[in-house]
Amino acid sequence: MESIVIQGGIPLQGSVESSGAKNAALPLLAAAILADGPVTFHRIPHLNDISTMTNLLAWQGADVTYDDQDRLTIDTRAANKPEAPYEMVKTMRASSLVLGPLLVRFGEARVSLPGGCAIGARPIDLHLKALEVMGAEISVEHGDVIAKAPNGLHGGRIFFDQVTVTGTENILMAAVLAKGETVLENAAREPEVVNLADSLRALGAKIEGDGTDTITIQGVERISGGDIFTIADRIETATYLAAGLITGGDVTVSKTDPKLLDAFLARVKEAGAIVETGDDFIRCAAPKRLQAVNIHTMPHPGFPTDLQAQFMAMMCVAEGTSLVSETIFENRFMHVQELVRMGADIQLDGHTAVIKGVEKLSAAPVMATDLRASASLVLAGVAAQGETVVSRVYHIDRGYERIEEKMRSLGANIERHYI
Ligand code: UD1
Repeated sequence: MESIVIQGGIPLQGSVESSGAKNAALPLLAAAILADGPVTFHRIPHLNDISTMTNLLAWQGADVTYDDQDRLTIDTRAANKPEAPYEMVKTMRASSLVLGPLLVRFGEARVSLPGGCAIGARPIDLHLKALEVMGAEISVEHGDVIAKAPNGLHGGRIFFDQVTVTGTENILMAAVLAKGETVLENAAREPEVVNLADSLRALGAKIEGDGTDTITIQGVERISGGDIFTIADRIETATYLAAGLITGGDVTVSKTDPKLLDAFLARVKEAGAIVETGDDFIRCAAPKRLQAVNIHTMPHPGFPTDLQAQFMAMMCVAEGTSLVSETIFENRFMHVQELVRMGADIQLDGHTAVIKGVEKLSAAPVMATDLRASASLVLAGVAAQGETVVSRVYHIDRGYERIEEKMRSLGANIERHYI
């Protein structure tokens, strides 16, 4: 078993580069299924979820070649298995992103239903309803979604009852090759959706309105291969900035984009941080002590749920009482008990955590429970005096590329132990 061992209490200083965004790269890779030619992806992070997706595409018959450190080319023209079996996808919910592209390309698809997830139920009912509007016949058998559209998919008006990021991406991809016009209403406005739309447009798709809550797609006969560029990982960027702030340090993240993080930067400014931004960098310097600030998570451009745990870790050592409300996922407070073990004062009241800032956290053995929760424990660990051991780090590895190396470049005393 691997664990991350941190000797905390050192103010982090310096500069670190952002990686490409996992949550942008996953739908981009799935979009290769639509392309009638090789697609070269730039700035793909080295993460387990990415390998799960590329292995799945290769299993379907695609040709996948890594030709540089963070560049890879996928040619799905020879793919002939429109399936995503349970064994290949059980570790990653985002694998449901292949459903829309497979169905529109092959007229059929069989994709294992994502299982339960530690942070909540996370169903894909809205994806399925939308595909039905587009002419698909869908059934669920033996845990698999079986979708059929022998005459192809057609456009339609789709209203998402709830804002769903992967739902928007899945249906956007299907609509690119569907017949006629598709209008997505109450669509997700996340930058990763815009990255997907930009990339598909570069390959010949006709899409308008991405970045707003109404996206209109005119179906085309084919899209070509080409080059696709992943945006910076806004969640990773903010996690390193938070690591600087929680330790009383001064951290700059480069190769990123401040526009991706408006909500987060507004809140840390409110907490007293000095924030400096340029076209492609963000610097956050800690005040003498962070001040308590309330947040509630919302779909973009609101405060991202994927930063809730990290922000809470900062609030644990802020001056005053802060309220952190989670409105997207019903069970995304599993880090609370672990932070309490490290000396935090947190009370849970339904969807809201009430955090009374303490002067210092104390190091402790803790357990990672999901991806972003584990990032909050690493943050608490770099802030706390003494040795913190974070176990079950495979959760962290799903979303943070070379985390120890990047943290060490900021001065953290952190290493991975293999027991
Ligand atoms: C994506 C992100 C995840 C982020 C989340 C924030 C990826 C790979 N993952 O996850 O990191 O935390 O957005 O929104 O990009 N819902 C339904 N039915 C559906 C779909 C969603 O009820 O068919 C509900 C979910 O249970 C949840 C909410 O809608 O309460 C938002 O889910 P969604 O945006 O779909 O999350 P993901 O796309 O899974």
